[in-house]
Amino acid sequence: MNTVEKMVVASPLRRGPQIWYETPLLLRLGGRLDPGAHALEIGCGTGRGIELILNRFGAARVDGIDVDPDSLARARRRWHGNSRVAIVQGSATDLRTAVDAADASYDAVFDFAIVHHIPDWRACLAEVGRVLRPGGRFYFSEMTARALARPTLALLFDHPTEDRFDARDFLAELPRHGLDVIGSKSLLGDYFFGVAQRREHTDPTPPTHDRDPH
Ligand SMILES: C[S@@+](CC[C@H](N)C(=O)[O-])C[C@H]1O[C@@H](n2cnc3c(N)ncnc32)[C@H](O)[C@@H]1O
Repeated sequence: MNTVEKMVVASPLRRGPQIWYETPLLLRLGGRLDPGAHALEIGCGTGRGIELILNRFGAARVDGIDVDPDSLARARRRWHGNSRVAIVQGSATDLRTAVDAADASYDAVFDFAIVHHIPDWRACLAEVGRVLRPGGRFYFSEMTARALARPTLALLFDHPTEDRFDARDFLAELPRHGLDVIGSKSLLGDYFFGVAQRREHTDPTPPTHDRDPH
Protein backbone atom coordinates (compact mmCIF):
# COMPACT_ATOMS: atom_id res chain seq x y z
CA MET A 1 0.00 0.00 0.00
CA ASN A 2 1.50 3.37 -0.96
CA THR A 3 1.43 6.57 1.10
CA VAL A 4 -1.63 8.00 -0.66
CA GLU A 5 -3.66 4.87 0.01
CA LYS A 6 -2.48 4.78 3.65
CA MET A 7 -3.78 8.34 4.06
CA VAL A 8 -7.12 7.48 2.45
CA VAL A 9 -7.50 4.30 4.51
CA ALA A 10 -6.88 6.27 7.74
CA SER A 11 -9.34 9.01 6.75
CA PRO A 12 -13.12 9.38 7.08
CA LEU A 13 -13.32 8.51 3.35
CA ARG A 14 -12.63 4.90 4.37
CA ARG A 15 -13.92 4.85 7.96
CA GLY A 16 -17.35 6.32 7.13
CA PRO A 17 -18.38 3.67 4.57
CA GLN A 18 -16.91 0.89 6.74
CA ILE A 19 -18.89 1.94 9.81
CA TRP A 20 -22.14 3.10 8.22
CA TYR A 21 -22.48 0.87 5.15
CA GLU A 22 -20.29 -2.25 5.18
CA THR A 23 -20.79 -3.25 8.79
CA PRO A 24 -24.62 -3.04 8.80
CA LEU A 25 -24.72 -4.84 5.44
CA LEU A 26 -22.40 -7.66 6.56
CA LEU A 27 -24.41 -8.02 9.77
CA ARG A 28 -27.59 -8.31 7.74
CA LEU A 29 -26.02 -10.93 5.44
CA GLY A 30 -24.24 -13.02 8.08
CA GLY A 31 -25.47 -12.01 11.52
CA ARG A 32 -23.52 -11.47 14.75
CA LEU A 33 -21.01 -14.02 15.98
CA ASP A 34 -21.78 -16.56 18.68
CA PRO A 35 -20.73 -15.70 22.25
CA GLY A 36 -17.06 -16.48 22.84
CA ALA A 37 -16.18 -16.30 19.14
CA HIS A 38 -12.52 -16.04 18.16
CA ALA A 39 -12.11 -13.99 14.97
CA LEU A 40 -9.25 -13.21 12.60
CA GLU A 41 -8.99 -10.02 10.59
CA ILE A 42 -6.68 -10.39 7.59
CA GLY A 43 -5.10 -7.09 6.49
CA CYS A 44 -6.09 -5.36 9.72
CA GLY A 45 -4.10 -2.22 8.82
CA THR A 46 -4.07 0.21 11.75
CA GLY A 47 -6.60 -1.90 13.67
CA ARG A 48 -9.75 0.19 13.28
CA GLY A 49 -11.77 -2.76 11.93
CA ILE A 50 -10.99 -4.74 15.09
CA GLU A 51 -13.15 -2.33 17.07
CA LEU A 52 -16.10 -3.16 14.79
CA ILE A 53 -15.44 -6.90 15.00
CA LEU A 54 -15.45 -6.76 18.81
CA ASN A 55 -18.28 -4.29 19.38
CA ARG A 56 -20.62 -4.69 16.43
CA PHE A 57 -20.05 -8.32 15.38
CA GLY A 58 -19.63 -9.49 18.97
CA ALA A 59 -16.31 -11.35 18.83
CA ALA A 60 -14.77 -12.23 22.19
CA ARG A 61 -11.22 -12.20 20.83
CA VAL A 62 -9.64 -10.92 17.62
CA ASP A 63 -6.29 -11.63 15.99
CA GLY A 64 -5.25 -9.02 13.40
CA ILE A 65 -2.63 -9.75 10.77
CA ASP A 66 -0.98 -7.47 8.22
CA VAL A 67 2.24 -7.25 6.23
CA ASP A 68 2.82 -3.52 6.64
CA PRO A 69 5.10 -2.59 9.60
CA ASP A 70 3.89 1.07 9.80
CA SER A 71 0.22 0.10 9.98
CA LEU A 72 1.02 -2.66 12.47
CA ALA A 73 2.87 -0.24 14.75
CA ARG A 74 -0.26 1.95 14.87
CA ALA A 75 -2.48 -1.09 15.44
CA ARG A 76 -0.25 -2.23 18.32
CA ARG A 77 -0.40 1.21 19.94
CA ARG A 78 -4.19 1.26 19.56
CA TRP A 79 -4.68 -2.16 21.17
CA HIS A 80 -1.79 -2.19 23.62
CA GLY A 81 -2.78 -3.87 26.91
CA ASN A 82 -6.08 -5.29 25.61
CA SER A 83 -5.99 -9.04 26.29
CA ARG A 84 -8.77 -9.70 23.75
CA VAL A 85 -6.65 -8.51 20.82
CA ALA A 86 -3.43 -9.84 19.27
CA ILE A 87 -1.66 -8.06 16.41
CA VAL A 88 0.84 -10.02 14.30
CA GLN A 89 2.93 -9.43 11.22
CA GLY A 90 2.65 -11.85 8.33
CA SER A 91 0.88 -12.70 5.12
CA ALA A 92 -2.72 -13.82 4.82
CA THR A 93 -1.50 -16.37 2.29
CA ASP A 94 0.40 -18.26 5.01
CA LEU A 95 -1.49 -18.11 8.30
CA ARG A 96 0.30 -21.14 9.69
CA THR A 97 3.56 -19.20 9.80
CA ALA A 98 2.02 -15.85 10.67
CA VAL A 99 -0.37 -16.66 13.52
CA ASP A 100 0.39 -20.35 13.98
CA ALA A 101 -3.18 -20.99 12.86
CA ALA A 102 -4.15 -24.65 12.95
CA ASP A 103 -6.90 -26.01 10.68
CA ALA A 104 -10.41 -25.05 11.86
CA SER A 105 -9.10 -22.72 14.55
CA TYR A 106 -11.26 -19.60 13.98
CA ASP A 107 -15.01 -18.96 14.27
CA ALA A 108 -14.89 -16.06 11.80
CA VAL A 109 -12.51 -14.40 9.35
CA PHE A 110 -12.92 -10.79 8.18
CA ASP A 111 -11.64 -9.28 4.93
CA PHE A 112 -12.16 -5.53 4.92
CA ALA A 113 -10.76 -4.66 1.48
CA ILE A 114 -7.53 -6.63 1.50
CA VAL A 115 -7.77 -9.65 -0.83
CA HIS A 116 -7.54 -7.43 -3.95
CA HIS A 117 -4.04 -6.43 -2.68
CA ILE A 118 -2.79 -10.01 -2.85
CA PRO A 119 -1.29 -11.30 -6.10
CA ASP A 120 -2.16 -14.94 -5.27
CA TRP A 121 -5.66 -14.20 -3.97
CA ARG A 122 -6.76 -17.81 -4.41
CA ALA A 123 -4.05 -18.93 -1.96
CA CYS A 124 -5.47 -16.45 0.53
CA LEU A 125 -9.01 -17.84 0.13
CA ALA A 126 -7.59 -21.36 0.56
CA GLU A 127 -6.09 -20.24 3.89
CA VAL A 128 -9.40 -18.71 4.98
CA GLY A 129 -11.15 -22.02 4.21
CA ARG A 130 -8.48 -23.96 6.08
CA VAL A 131 -8.48 -21.95 9.30
CA LEU A 132 -12.28 -21.61 9.65
CA ARG A 133 -14.04 -24.23 11.74
CA PRO A 134 -17.00 -26.01 10.13
CA GLY A 135 -19.94 -23.58 10.33
CA GLY A 136 -17.54 -20.63 10.79
CA ARG A 137 -18.12 -17.54 8.67
CA PHE A 138 -16.06 -15.48 6.25
CA TYR A 139 -17.18 -11.83 6.00
CA PHE A 140 -15.79 -10.03 2.96
CA SER A 141 -15.85 -6.56 1.49
CA GLU A 142 -13.97 -6.26 -1.80
CA MET A 143 -13.12 -4.19 -4.88
CA THR A 144 -13.35 -5.53 -8.42
CA ALA A 145 -10.84 -5.46 -11.29
CA ARG A 146 -13.05 -2.80 -12.88
CA ALA A 147 -12.66 -0.52 -9.85
CA LEU A 148 -8.89 -1.06 -9.71
CA ALA A 149 -8.57 -0.18 -13.41
CA ARG A 150 -10.31 3.19 -13.04
CA PRO A 151 -7.79 5.90 -14.01
CA THR A 152 -7.87 7.76 -10.68
CA LEU A 153 -7.36 4.60 -8.63
CA ALA A 154 -4.72 3.20 -10.99
CA LEU A 155 -2.84 6.52 -10.83
CA LEU A 156 -3.00 7.12 -7.09
CA PHE A 157 -2.88 3.62 -5.63
CA ASP A 158 -0.57 0.67 -6.07
CA HIS A 159 -2.41 -2.62 -6.63
CA PRO A 160 -1.47 -5.83 -8.41
CA THR A 161 -2.76 -5.71 -12.00
CA GLU A 162 -2.51 -9.34 -13.11
CA ASP A 163 -5.24 -11.91 -12.52
CA ARG A 164 -7.68 -9.62 -10.68
CA PHE A 165 -11.26 -10.68 -9.98
CA ASP A 166 -14.81 -9.49 -10.25
CA ALA A 167 -17.60 -10.58 -7.92
CA ARG A 168 -18.38 -13.66 -10.01
CA ASP A 169 -14.76 -14.90 -9.98
CA PHE A 170 -14.48 -14.40 -6.24
CA LEU A 171 -17.83 -16.02 -5.41
CA ALA A 172 -17.01 -18.95 -7.73
CA GLU A 173 -13.65 -19.50 -6.01
CA LEU A 174 -15.04 -19.73 -2.47
CA PRO A 175 -16.75 -23.16 -2.74
CA ARG A 176 -13.44 -24.63 -3.96
CA HIS A 177 -12.15 -23.97 -0.45
CA GLY A 178 -15.18 -25.31 1.41
CA LEU A 179 -16.82 -21.88 1.69
CA ASP A 180 -20.49 -21.67 0.65
CA VAL A 181 -21.86 -18.18 0.07
CA ILE A 182 -24.91 -17.44 2.23
CA GLY A 183 -25.42 -13.87 1.04
CA SER A 184 -23.82 -11.27 -1.19
CA LYS A 185 -24.40 -7.86 -2.69
CA SER A 186 -22.73 -6.00 -5.54
CA LEU A 187 -22.46 -2.22 -5.68
CA LEU A 188 -22.03 -0.38 -8.99
CA GLY A 189 -19.89 -3.22 -10.40
CA ASP A 190 -16.94 -1.79 -8.45
CA TYR A 191 -17.53 -3.22 -4.98
CA PHE A 192 -19.06 -6.37 -3.55
CA PHE A 193 -19.77 -7.68 -0.08
CA GLY A 194 -20.78 -11.04 1.28
CA VAL A 195 -20.64 -13.81 3.83
CA ALA A 196 -19.65 -17.44 3.25
CA GLN A 197 -19.97 -20.33 5.67
CA ARG A 198 -17.39 -23.09 6.09
CA ARG A 199 -18.92 -26.38 4.96
CA GLU A 200 -19.28 -29.04 7.65
CA HIS A 201 -17.39 -31.58 5.57
CA THR A 202 -15.55 -31.52 2.28
CA ASP A 203 -18.11 -32.09 -0.43
CA PRO A 204 -16.82 -32.49 -3.98
CA THR A 205 -20.06 -31.09 -5.42
CA PRO A 206 -20.89 -28.03 -3.35
CA PRO A 207 -24.29 -26.37 -3.77
CA THR A 208 -24.28 -23.68 -6.46
CA HIS A 209 -24.80 -20.09 -5.44
CA ASP A 210 -27.82 -18.90 -7.39
CA ARG A 211 -27.95 -15.27 -6.26
CA ASP A 212 -26.74 -13.03 -9.07
CA PRO A 213 -24.23 -10.55 -7.63
CA HIS A 214 -24.75 -8.20 -10.59
C1 LIG B 1 -6.88 -1.18 1.67
S1 LIG B 1 -6.01 -1.64 3.13
C2 LIG B 1 -7.34 -2.10 4.18
C3 LIG B 1 -7.00 -1.94 5.63
C4 LIG B 1 -8.18 -2.19 6.58
N1 LIG B 1 -8.61 -3.58 6.50
C5 LIG B 1 -9.30 -1.23 6.30
O1 LIG B 1 -10.36 -1.65 5.86
O2 LIG B 1 -9.12 -0.06 6.52
C6 LIG B 1 -5.31 -3.22 2.70
C7 LIG B 1 -4.44 -3.80 3.80
O3 LIG B 1 -4.03 -5.12 3.41
C8 LIG B 1 -2.69 -5.30 3.83
N2 LIG B 1 -2.11 -6.42 3.05
C9 LIG B 1 -1.70 -6.44 1.76
N3 LIG B 1 -1.25 -7.65 1.42
C10 LIG B 1 -1.37 -8.44 2.53
C11 LIG B 1 -1.07 -9.81 2.82
N4 LIG B 1 -0.55 -10.63 1.90
N5 LIG B 1 -1.34 -10.27 4.07
C12 LIG B 1 -1.87 -9.47 5.03
N6 LIG B 1 -2.16 -8.16 4.80
C13 LIG B 1 -1.92 -7.65 3.57
C14 LIG B 1 -2.05 -3.94 3.58
O4 LIG B 1 -0.83 -3.77 4.28
C15 LIG B 1 -3.17 -3.01 4.07
O5 LIG B 1 -3.06 -2.74 5.44
